[in-house]
Amino acid sequence: MIENSVIEYMLNRKSIRSYTDEMPSEEVIQTIVRAGQQAPFASQLGSVLMTRDLKNNPFHAPILFIICVDVYRWERIMARCGWTMVAEDLLLILLGMQDATLMAENMVMAAESLGLGSCFLGEIPYNAEEIIEQYKLPPRVFPMVGLTMGYPAESPPPRPRYPLEFVLFEDEYPIFDDELVQRSMDIMDEGYRAQDYYSDSKAMIGLLGDREETFNYDTYGWSEHICRKWGQNLFPRDLLARFERCGFDLSRRE
Ligand SMILES: Cc1cc2nc3c(=O)[nH]c(=O)nc-3n(C[C@H](O)[C@H](O)[C@H](O)COP(=O)(O)O)c2cc1C
Repeated sequence: MIENSVIEYMLNRKSIRSYTDEMPSEEVIQTIVRAGQQAPFASQLGSVLMTRDLKNNPFHAPILFIICVDVYRWERIMARCGWTMVAEDLLLILLGMQDATLMAENMVMAAESLGLGSCFLGEIPYNAEEIIEQYKLPPRVFPMVGLTMGYPAESPPPRPRYPLEFVLFEDEYPIFDDELVQRSMDIMDEGYRAQDYYSDSKAMIGLLGDREETFNYDTYGWSEHICRKWGQNLFPRDLLARFERCGFDLSRRE
């Protein structure tokens, strides 16, 4: 592997879920967001809400960012130019999620380089109503993901990842044999178990229905965690309605 300081920051990054009380300076915050803005974009469809609330932010993070897909701003510009939007909302959301995500990850890496840590929060779309009210969002702005940020009060090791052969496919998508699938699972499971990741945070997901528990924290790992997360109905099935409440109609085809 080639080593340089950028690669080193990327390979050593990990989600931080415990922060000191130190509030990053205005200059630090603005630098991070400015670096976020400089990510590649389809149409600058990402915008950033921010709140400083040590007491109430998740993980008592000094800063909570909420990264939004923002079509409102774009439509204001179009209106000034005498145009109206006819592109379908599904495309706008798809492009907007990419713009917003790239921006968020640039912010993460900028923060790392300045000694700050961060953690994404995926439940934000489920809090869309409260966020609309709290931040007085106009329609056509969808709160996509949260991002806590601050100076780390913990220093966990970098978390494991699939082996490269399970990720990088040159020229054609391979037919996986079970051995590669199992090896990839083992790398993840053993990696997380070696870090006591689930046992330390007591993060085992319970079983719904009449499935019998056969795991404990010595055997529970990433594969079982992901199966339980996505193989059980843990999340409300109302995301389309939440998009609608933010002024997007993702089912319209004409
Ligand atoms: C879209 C997204 C949503 C996430 N949501 C949460 C969350 O709600 N709570 C949390 O503690 N971590 C959350 N994470 C952090 C992931 O758990 C973390 O990135 C993953 O376990 C890999 O660990 P690492 O970031 O330390 O390498 C989220 C990450 C992403 C990208």
